[in-house]
Amino acid sequence: MLPHPTLAAHYPTPEAKPEFVNRLFDRGAKHYDAVVDWGFLHSGAAYRRRTLKQHGLRPGDHLLDVACGTGLVAVEAAKILGTAENITCLDPSAGMLAVARTKLTARFVLGRAENMPLADNSFDFLTMGYALRHVTSLEQTFREYRRVLKPTGKLLILEVTKPAGRFPRFLFRLYFGRTYPFLTRLFTRSKEARDMMHYYWETMDACVPPTDVLAALRAAGLRDVKRDTVLGLFSEYSAVKA
Ligand SMILES: C[S@@+](CC[C@H](N)C(=O)[O-])C[C@H]1O[C@@H](n2cnc3c(N)ncnc32)[C@H](O)[C@@H]1O
Repeated sequence: MLPHPTLAAHYPTPEAKPEFVNRLFDRGAKHYDAVVDWGFLHSGAAYRRRTLKQHGLRPGDHLLDVACGTGLVAVEAAKILGTAENITCLDPSAGMLAVARTKLTARFVLGRAENMPLADNSFDFLTMGYALRHVTSLEQTFREYRRVLKPTGKLLILEVTKPAGRFPRFLFRLYFGRTYPFLTRLFTRSKEARDMMHYYWETMDACVPPTDVLAALRAAGLRDVKRDTVLGLFSEYSAVKA
């Protein structure tokens, strides 16, 4: 299952999506941290750290951060683990990885969630922050997650999800669809950064509902699958490898 239908205004076929997405993040990489920091009212670091703790990340764990981007999840994880030496960061964008490398001395891998060049049964904890919409198959991605996790290993996927209800959806569209891309352009003076944040919105708007994500996690053979929400907007999908 695709996380959202093909967005033909950007790429003509599902096969062309990875190249488009890669270019988008390579070009936007240098602006990403600043834009998501003010865009989420400086709450991102504390939220990521608190959520990792709540979902059971513990010192000593071997962590895989898929779609690490500029390292925002991994940096917070390193504070909990007390070190970055047991963290592996994976991302297909060389531009995003280059920024992440300046922040922590983890192991960095250029790769995609759907087909990871990593050994079976090697991680206690797997995270993916705000990137599920960019994969080409939910089932394939979740099978890979199950493969690389150790038995009883946990996964945590963070996402922003379109809220229920007409008024919350109106506000969601107004902020993410209009205001945020506009302010991004204004503050960064970068069309690439604006395009990255507008695509962020388009994929959230077109994304399959949470029930489909939960079903795909179960279909991959994961257990204790659930979704916690914060403000009806932030989704925390979690699961365990049996
Ligand atoms: C919005 S950024 C998220 C960065 C970071 N995880 C965070 O919490 O802010 C999305 C990231 O997903 C990466 N990405 C895109 N397609 C991917 C794929 N198929 N597998 C893994 N990562 C992917 C992009 O290169 C980008 O770095």
